[in-house]
Amino acid sequence: MVEKAEEQKNLAQLEEQEITVKIKRFSKEKGSWWQEYRLKVDRFTQMTEVLRRIKTEQDPTISYRASCHMAVCGSCGMKINGEPRLACKTLALDIVKIYNSSTISVEPMDYFPVLKDLVVDLDEFYDKMFKVKPRLYPDKDVLEGKVDHRLKPEDQRELWKFEQCIWCGLCVSSCPAVRIDPEFLGPAAHAKGYRFLADPRDTIYEERLKILIDSSWRCTYCYQCFNVCPRDVEPVTTIKKTRAHTKFMKEKTKVAETGEKHIESIVSSIRETGKLEEAKVYLSTYGLLESIKDMIYAMQNGKLKYALVQDTKVKGLDQIKKIMGE
Ligand code: SF4
Ligand code: SF4
Ligand code: FES
Repeated sequence: MVEKAEEQKNLAQLEEQEITVKIKRFSKEKGSWWQEYRLKVDRFTQMTEVLRRIKTEQDPTISYRASCHMAVCGSCGMKINGEPRLACKTLALDIVKIYNSSTISVEPMDYFPVLKDLVVDLDEFYDKMFKVKPRLYPDKDVLEGKVDHRLKPEDQRELWKFEQCIWCGLCVSSCPAVRIDPEFLGPAAHAKGYRFLADPRDTIYEERLKILIDSSWRCTYCYQCFNVCPRDVEPVTTIKKTRAHTKFMKEKTKVAETGEKHIESIVSSIRETGKLEEAKVYLSTYGLLESIKDMIYAMQNGKLKYALVQDTKVKGLDQIKKIMGE
């Protein structure tokens, strides 16, 4: 056992390499600047360990967040070589290998206001997470211990992935929709919201619909949240699944109604031509008046030619209809 530990230590030392870490610093007094540090790392060195050593051995003025060092607490979200990552789940030498460079840049997450160095203000993130009521509201009898209400394996299979969110905020930091639409709850809140919307033990389904449906139609389906989530939660999948509940809403907002119309238009375009005819889909989604306004805008920006392209039907339309179950 001792021999093995010694052997591993030697192996790690063998692979030691000097790296340069460029940290984007920020303070209210000085504004922002880049600062470089050099240190030796081995193949086991996580980026949180890199930061810890820089702070303890070279520069105690650096601020960053980290706690569990095992991708559980969600504190260490930041950008490493421009990519949103959990620092504790990122090995320094992996980054060196991927980018073929011994210089690694570290910046705070995008979108959130920076408080100091790598520490960002997550108040808005938490507000939105709590807006979706992120806990189970079980039946009174369950609370009083009169009945047992366990999840069936098939329900657990549906929810499992979406339960893995660690509130790191990486998906929100890379979401384009939250930046332009203050009414959008964001990917993480949707993942959390759907996790309870789809839980058969929950008792506030109607209330959850009111909170989630309008917002779900504000996502642009860019899949950034899918790409960056360190826990494979797939927030965009929860948004898609939430949209499917729109039909159960008694009173829909204009955004939700337009969203449903958009889906119907896409389905009918594919049914008729086998293709997504953008111009027609737009017209039937937004109506004539709105479309004319946008056509004028497209004309002014030299894009009208794309909207007016005459497309032909695809061959084998009957096969497409078969796929659509018709
Ligand atoms: S969904 Fe993923 S990226 Fe978003 S907060 Fe949760 S764990 Fe982080
Ligand atoms: S898919 Fe939707 S929620 Fe996810 S990053 Fe893109 S816009 Fe945001
Ligand atoms: S330190 Fe806890 S998730 Fe990285």
